[in-house]
Amino acid sequence: MTEHVVVEREDGLLTLRLNRLDKMNALTRAMYSRLAEVLEEAQNDASVRSVLITGGAECFTSGNDVADFLQAPPTSTDSPVFHFMRALFEFSKPVVAAVSGPAVGIGTTLLLHCDLVYVSRDAKLKMPFVNLGLCPEFGSSLILPRLLGQAKAAELLLLGEGFTGEQAAQWGIASDALDDGPTALAKGREMARRFLDLAPSAVADSKRLMRAPGRDELRRVIEEEGLLFGQRLKSPEALEALSAFMQRRKPDFSRFV
Ligand code: COA
Repeated sequence: MTEHVVVEREDGLLTLRLNRLDKMNALTRAMYSRLAEVLEEAQNDASVRSVLITGGAECFTSGNDVADFLQAPPTSTDSPVFHFMRALFEFSKPVVAAVSGPAVGIGTTLLLHCDLVYVSRDAKLKMPFVNLGLCPEFGSSLILPRLLGQAKAAELLLLGEGFTGEQAAQWGIASDALDDGPTALAKGREMARRFLDLAPSAVADSKRLMRAPGRDELRRVIEEEGLLFGQRLKSPEALEALSAFMQRRKPDFSRFV
C-alpha cells in the first residue's frame, strides 16, 4: 500500500513520511519495499541532496508489523525489510530522522544509520527483540555495546528496556531532544534543509569517512543478525510471543528450556 509511505519533494529535500497511524505506523513488507525503492531512486537522482525520515508529529513507528511477522516472516536476506536496510545502509547522502511517540524495534535501530536524529523528549524508544523471542537486528548488536558499553546495551537489547527521547540524546543515539513532536519534526526539517546549501560531494565524502571504520564488519553483522532473526521468527518461542501480542496477552515462555 504505497499510501502508507508518503513521499514529498521540496527543492532538494526528499521527505519519507510513514503514514499508517491506525497501526501506529507498523511497517509492512509493502512499506519496506516502497522505502527501499525511493531511497534507491534518490541515490541516483542528483537533484536529491538530503532525506528526512519521519512518522509525523505523533508517532514514529511501532516497528515491524507483527501480523506480517506471523503470516510472511522475512526468513531470507532477500526480503523487503533487508532491501530497505541495505538501501539505508548504503545511502551516500545525508539522512535525518525526526522522531516522536513510539519508535519500536527497527524504529529505533534504523536511527543508528541516520546522520542526524531529532526526537521529542518524551519519545518512547524500545527494542523488544528478545521479548518477542527474536534477536537484535540492523547492526544494533554491534553498534550499541560500542556506543553505550555492554552493561547499558544489555538492558536495552536483552531486557528490552524502553527509554525516552531525552535519554537517547544523552547517550548519543539522537542529536538532540526537543520539547514536543511538532518541534522535533520542525527541527528535523530545518536541519535536513541545511544540507541543501552545502557542497554535495564534500558531504558525501565526509559521511563516508565517518562511517568507514568497522563498516565491513558491520555489514557482515547485519547479514548474520538477519539470518538468525529469520530462523528465530520460525521458533516456538517467537510464535508464542507474536501470538500473545495479537491476542493482547502476556507471553508464556515457561515451557521452553
Ligand atoms: N504490528 C501490528 N499491529 C500493531 C503494531 C505492530 N508492530 N503496533 C501496534 N499495532 C496495532 C495494534 O494491534 C492496534 O490495532 P487495533 O486497533 O486493530 O487493535 C493499533 O495498532 C494500536 O496499537 P495499541 O497497542 O492499541 O496502541 P498503544 O498506544 O496502546 O501502544 C505501542 C503503542 C507501540 C506501545 C504498542 O502498540 C506496541 O507495543 N506495539 C508492538 C511493538 C512491537 O513489538 N513491534 C515489533 C518490534 S520487533
